[in-house]
Amino acid sequence: MQTTADRRNTDQDWNAIGAAEPFWGVLVQPQFKMDALTPQAVEEFYTTGDHDMLRYTENFERHFGPFRPKSALDFGCGVGRIAFAMAKGIPSVVGVDISEGMLARAAKYAASRRIQNVEWMKELPNRTFDWVNTHIVLQHIPADRGLKIIDQLLQRVNPGGWVSLHVVIYNEQGAEITAHQPVESIPPMLMCCYPLGEVIQRFHQNDIIDLAFLSTNHSPHGGLIIFGRRKEVVAGAHASIRFLKRFLPLSLFRSPRHESQSSQAA
Ligand SMILES: C[S@@+](CC[C@H](N)C(=O)[O-])C[C@H]1O[C@@H](n2cnc3c(N)ncnc32)[C@H](O)[C@@H]1O
Repeated sequence: MQTTADRRNTDQDWNAIGAAEPFWGVLVQPQFKMDALTPQAVEEFYTTGDHDMLRYTENFERHFGPFRPKSALDFGCGVGRIAFAMAKGIPSVVGVDISEGMLARAAKYAASRRIQNVEWMKELPNRTFDWVNTHIVLQHIPADRGLKIIDQLLQRVNPGGWVSLHVVIYNEQGAEITAHQPVESIPPMLMCCYPLGEVIQRFHQNDIIDLAFLSTNHSPHGGLIIFGRRKEVVAGAHASIRFLKRFLPLSLFRSPRHESQSSQAA
């Protein structure tokens, strides 16, 4: 059954939130409201992105070895909290967000700091990246649409590349979608739960099989950051198999079906 929350135009909501409260819309804390925002608060805000970056690096390295992306995409980048942290060590970064207000703020901050290795876009670009990330974004998009976005994100991971994708998977009261409206004058932020099986299926369908998980708990919502790495395409793999076949006994290359047929025949 569709509820009013299901039918909300969340893109419109986020355009309004980004225009009115670009920092507070990302981290709902009083010091990030426009009427209270100080230069120190802005620095505090962006420092939280550096902490997230550290967490990504630690998790990728723990599970998959050295983490050295040359390009990164941050989907739902907001005012660039994570994109700027990425840009400190990654030569080419793209931040995508539906909200023009958020993107304008991000571009303004980049100009003030002469940061030139981040591009800001309203739509997903038609190219692939070494690292694709999305954090506290999909939770604001109903899952039927969000699952299609997950597919589009996973298709943009290079061979050997990394992905970190945050999803909310339960609400303590059991509701799939709730509306969170801390301030009357600003549209509600939907909080949407995702069916975990369908999310993981998207990873497998996109050939990203190596996965690790970090749980997130912001009561009443619980979720996961899913870390994945796409397999490298080993150059010349076919040539090496051809080479080995010439020198090793043929039986080593038989499929199990051939083996059982030949043992039956014996
Ligand atoms: C809570 S903020 C998170 C921002 C950023 N990921 C961070 O962690 O700092 C959610 C962001 O998702 C963006 N967003 C919501 N729906 C989107 C969509 N359909 N496409 C792209 N961005 C979207 C919003 O405009 C907002 O900037």
